[in-house]
Amino acid sequence: MNPGARLLILGKQGAGKGTQAVRLSRHYVVPHISTGDTFRQAVRSGSEFGQKAKQYLDVGELVPDELVIGMVRERLTRSDTSHRGFVLDGFPRTVPQAEALEDMLAPNGLHLAVDIEIDTGMVLARLASRRVCVDCGANYSVIDNPPRVPGLCDVCGGEVVQRDDDTEGAIRRRLELYDRETAPLIAWYAERQLLTRIDGLGTPDEVTERIVLEVDRRILRSAGG
Ligand code: AP5
Ligand code: MG
Repeated sequence: MNPGARLLILGKQGAGKGTQAVRLSRHYVVPHISTGDTFRQAVRSGSEFGQKAKQYLDVGELVPDELVIGMVRERLTRSDTSHRGFVLDGFPRTVPQAEALEDMLAPNGLHLAVDIEIDTGMVLARLASRRVCVDCGANYSVIDNPPRVPGLCDVCGGEVVQRDDDTEGAIRRRLELYDRETAPLIAWYAERQLLTRIDGLGTPDEVTERIVLEVDRRILRSAGG
């Protein structure tokens, strides 16, 4: 039986964090925890928390650390993650979030932080063509991976739309915040010998293969193999 894994995915907007996190969560049979998807579900539910989050999401600002940390802490106490692990997608995104995560995971810690590397020209093209299912969050691209029936999700039949934050202004702001707040985490995880850098170019299958190779190596090493 596959022993699970404790992973997080770093990478700028459009690097393929969500695309790879879904695949890794299936491969290692662990939950995919996407803070962005959780916020978008809360927005759709119309809850007070969702209304608060929407003000930040729509303009590409980061949701304040205390809200995000509380949400992830609650999720990581459930038994599925404590037994088998998780793939975190979009968390942490600031140094205080990384510090909080380190505390939450003690004494086991992470297996690996995977940084998916891609240049900004490529992410702008990917985000402009991205469409998502409002119900299950599946990703599509109008250029190379459209839904079989236009506007309808192949997986669940939900409506496929452009994300509210895939506008020029919000994308620019998200990339600025990535450089300022999130890019420093690459050095933070490297100092702790927890980082692997993966080339994000190539097909989604090729990128998954590169990640799995590194993760398996690390898990084997940490098991003393
Ligand atoms: P979030 O939902 O995490 O968005 P993001 O960081 O902007 O990242 P994206 O989802 O845009 O990119 P991705 O890397 O997942 O790429 P994808 O796989 O879709 O966060 C949204 C907002 O929530 C934030 O702005 C913030 O307000 C808030 N938030 C979330 N977490 C937070 C936190 N921790 N703290 C504070 N605030 C937080 O791929 C992109 C496209 O490329 C898709 O169309 C896909 O099909 C395509 N693609 C992917 N891989 C490939 C490939 N190999 N080849 C060709 N196409 C590919
Ligand atoms: Mg995503």
